[in-house]
Amino acid sequence: MGLTCVVGLQWGDEAKGKIVDLLTGEHDVVVRFQGGANAGHTVVSDGRKYKLSLIPTGILHPGKICVIANGVVIDPVSLLKEIESLRSADVEVGSNLLISDRAHVIFPYHAKEEELAEEAAGAIGTTRRGIGPCYRDKVGRTHGIRVGDLLRPDYFRSRLRMVVEFKNTTLAAAAPSFSPFSADELFEQYRTLAEKIRPYVTDTTDYLHQAMDADERILFEGAQGTLLDVDHGTYPYVTSSNSSACGLATGSGVPANRVDRFLGVIKAYTTRVGKGPFPTELQDAVGDQIRDRGKEYGTVTGRPRRCGWFDAVVTRYSARLNGVNGLAVTLLDVLSELDELAICVAYVHHGERLATVPADAQTLGECQPIYRTKPGWKRDISGARKLADLPSQARDYLDTMAELVGRPVQIVSVGPDRKQTIRVGG
Ligand code: GDP
Ligand code: IMO
Ligand code: MG
Repeated sequence: MGLTCVVGLQWGDEAKGKIVDLLTGEHDVVVRFQGGANAGHTVVSDGRKYKLSLIPTGILHPGKICVIANGVVIDPVSLLKEIESLRSADVEVGSNLLISDRAHVIFPYHAKEEELAEEAAGAIGTTRRGIGPCYRDKVGRTHGIRVGDLLRPDYFRSRLRMVVEFKNTTLAAAAPSFSPFSADELFEQYRTLAEKIRPYVTDTTDYLHQAMDADERILFEGAQGTLLDVDHGTYPYVTSSNSSACGLATGSGVPANRVDRFLGVIKAYTTRVGKGPFPTELQDAVGDQIRDRGKEYGTVTGRPRRCGWFDAVVTRYSARLNGVNGLAVTLLDVLSELDELAICVAYVHHGERLATVPADAQTLGECQPIYRTKPGWKRDISGARKLADLPSQARDYLDTMAELVGRPVQIVSVGPDRKQTIRVGG
């Protein structure tokens, strides 16, 4: 398989990091194509835990090239912190990391804008990493600043002055106590940061095309999940990028028809962080049990994740949207203690049965799930390494997921460690 895309089919945190890590050995290049440090991807190997935010998970594998492509938004301060923390964990970061000159830069005024929006009516429950305001400036064009701009001091200085003047005016109008940003101070600070990231900066679109010409195998690492996609998710309770596989082509410059395989990652249940509709949410002891067993607290913000049953309506929608060929089912072990499990097969909305995800968040929020129940297996499965090691109830649960989502299960994860994995059919 030449090119593979790994994408989350729910609301993020599906264990994409673990699955990308598993597949990295079969690829030469790993690419992030959207989002930013709002992502938190965890990999556990031999008892060591690594958390990646902005840097592709492939960095943990020596000899692989990691690309932060044009569709990503970069906060240089958090990027350099992440590089330092990887190095202090003996992970090499150097010529194996490439950063697009077309990627947009997050500045402190973006975080301030987000803070004000999040403290007012209409809050989304964001990660407050400046992601939304930075993408807004990118699309708005008048105030966006790209990584390549940081490396052209004269242009950067004049553009930053213009942008900071505008930001100071609008922020002061929204928050009279706000202390204005100094364009000169920001310029000095970001010029220093720019020189530190200069060695990594390149035209990653050209690099990826050359890699394809040389038959290199490329792995695309989705961040967030399909239901957080700005176009196809539960708008407005979404992130500001195309976090489904739809973002791959615009976010990397690689045509979608070059990708051989789209792998959809799904948790065996559902979680969501932040606000927004979640029909199968469990606000009871079972939800608490799932949160405890799954350690469902945000990697980035530490917020408790909302937990609920597996929603096959949402995942079928996502599987179709992404053109997913197969599924990786993760965190199956978390359900091991439960007597009975439930899977949402459809919704009822004001007496009407719905088998698809409605476009508006309000309608989805009013939907009641229709469940199919399944017996639990009540046995530790974290040592299973092949399907035959799983109790029949667990296999039946997986078969039901595959049937309802309409795609085959190719990988099953039964614990956080790399080794705690079943490759179906090989
Ligand atoms: P991502 O953002 O999609 O990469 O997912 P996160 O890393 O935010 O969240 C997944 C969490 O589940 C991490 O803490 C992983 O270490 C952990 N994890 C991954 N796979 C499994 C699994 O099969 N079982 C259990 N119990 N934990 C897992
Ligand atoms: P990974 O890659 C789960 C959520 C936030 C919020 C919404 C918008 O680890 O799966 P943003 O800061 O992006 O403007 O927040 O999106 N969110 C995530 N939820 N996993 C993520 O990333 C997320 N990244 C953003 O909680 O609801
Ligand atoms: Mg995460």
